[in-house]
Amino acid sequence: MTSTSLDVERIRKDFPVFSRELPDGRPLVYLDSGNSSQKPNLVIETMREHLALHYSNVGRAMHVLGAESTEAYEGARDKVAAFVGASRDEVVFTKNASEALNLVAYSFGNPANTDPRFTLGPGDEIVITEMEHHSNIVPWQLLAQRTGATLKWFGVTDEGRLDLADGVITERTKIVSVAHQSNVLGTVNPVVELARRAHEAGALILLDASQSVPHHPVDVAALDADFVAFTGHKMVGPSGIGVLWARAELLDAMPPFLGGGEMIEAVWMDHSTYAPAPHKFEAGTPPIVEAIGLGAAVDYLTGVGLEAIEAHERELTRYALEALGEVPRLRVIGPATLEARGGTVSFTLEGIHPHDVGQILDDRFGVAVRVGHHCARPLHLRFGIPATTRASFYLYNTTGEIDALVRGLHHVQKVFA
Ligand code: ALA
Repeated sequence: MTSTSLDVERIRKDFPVFSRELPDGRPLVYLDSGNSSQKPNLVIETMREHLALHYSNVGRAMHVLGAESTEAYEGARDKVAAFVGASRDEVVFTKNASEALNLVAYSFGNPANTDPRFTLGPGDEIVITEMEHHSNIVPWQLLAQRTGATLKWFGVTDEGRLDLADGVITERTKIVSVAHQSNVLGTVNPVVELARRAHEAGALILLDASQSVPHHPVDVAALDADFVAFTGHKMVGPSGIGVLWARAELLDAMPPFLGGGEMIEAVWMDHSTYAPAPHKFEAGTPPIVEAIGLGAAVDYLTGVGLEAIEAHERELTRYALEALGEVPRLRVIGPATLEARGGTVSFTLEGIHPHDVGQILDDRFGVAVRVGHHCARPLHLRFGIPATTRASFYLYNTTGEIDALVRGLHHVQKVFA
């Protein structure tokens, strides 16, 4: 049990998955929410009810179901906007955070975008960090290849913090793209300081907030960012829905990403004009039910309270760092203190491959963790390791589950002794 103000036992009852057992009667210990979170009844039932009773296409159907579906879809946009302190016209629904990041990358060095802030060519610079998820590395590599621009990055210290060396952001930098919270290290990056440096250099800044928006109160205006990307499935919502927030005037300046129905104003055989944002970026039938599910997820998280969730995860992280610290030959990869750190703890066990760790934890103890490089291979190369085992916490986890993880790790060590 934990001592925070969250009634975790009550919260667990909202998530049907916790009422099931694993094969052989093992209880489920789900410590993989950084990968994808579990879903509460409110999300499941909202999506079921929409599919059953209100489903129709949105924005184009002139009938009762069309109106109900459109109202629910656009209502979800209102909820998401309020959740991150944004205006509704600045919230673009995408399929996931990766698509949101690619959308922004596509608008740079694009002949269809004549705004000088987005022009990019040889000599110009793109800045990322060594702790990024592949989704915030590969789109920028592709952009650099397309345009001849140079890709640069901030390194990572031994403690798992950004090495904020001078000279990475320069007057040639056009875009800085950085994780708000690392999906491996748990590190919360000093994004306001990075935004200040980017803006001083005349660059724009994009935050990958996939690991922060589900866990901390996030107000996009307070972050001083230009673009923020996040995803539904890590915040008790469904997969298939993500969000790009951007300042309205930037969305106006950016060209469409995908062409198709609903993103146009008018079409001729040789050219088209486009709908205003956000619809300019939502070509084709959107993920209607998924967006509505995300709206329900926002209702759920708001009902519980992000401050309380953050405090609960902090307590779990404190407990985990202490408990894991007592496991012999275990090395935490990431900050050892709670300062600027979220509830994701990655580690190695000397001489034992994380795949073996993960398999034994699952098979014998029902403990679900993620093993591998967590789509952040360059970060693992930085630490000279191929992979880690990662436990990631959310509002429904308990200190008892961390005890189960630690028991499992002791067993793993006996197996390999
Ligand atoms: N799903 C990815 C993770 O596990 C982002 O961190």
